[in-house]
Amino acid sequence: MSVEQTLSIIKPDGVEKNLIGEIYSRFEKAGLQIVAARMMHLTKEQAEGFYAVHSERPFYKDLVSYMRSGPVMVTALEGESAIDKHREIMGATNPANADPGTIRKDFAASIEENVVHGSDGPETAAQEIAFFFGDGGVCPRTR
Ligand code: CMP
Repeated sequence: MSVEQTLSIIKPDGVEKNLIGEIYSRFEKAGLQIVAARMMHLTKEQAEGFYAVHSERPFYKDLVSYMRSGPVMVTALEGESAIDKHREIMGATNPANADPGTIRKDFAASIEENVVHGSDGPETAAQEIAFFFGDGGVCPRTR
């Protein structure tokens, strides 16, 4: 076990459903600490750039459009095994396969509109945090 940081996004459907507090509460109850947070409406360049790894997938265009359909809440979380812990709290990408009590099982409408995004490993976490908070936006928890 080691202390890690991970990137979390509450997507436009999660913000629309007023789930920011509910989702943050799940993170905090699991021992994750918010070290950066920003509400933003992604530009086309940001949405395309963030999901560039999926640019050849058939759902890419719709994904970019969905991610720009409303504001998102972008958050960096820190804690023991934060990457896996956050993925467990989110549940499987497809809510139909997500475990009971996970965010996606409880709130996601479909595999396309699945309420949250989370980094899938240490390298992606570092890249994704730098993508949104590379300007010194991560705030160390001094107490
Ligand atoms: P996310 O975990 O943010 O990673 C890529 C996103 O693409 C995914 O969540 C979904 O919002 C979206 N998506 C749409 N269709 C699919 C699909 N068939 N498989 C995986 N992700 C999909």
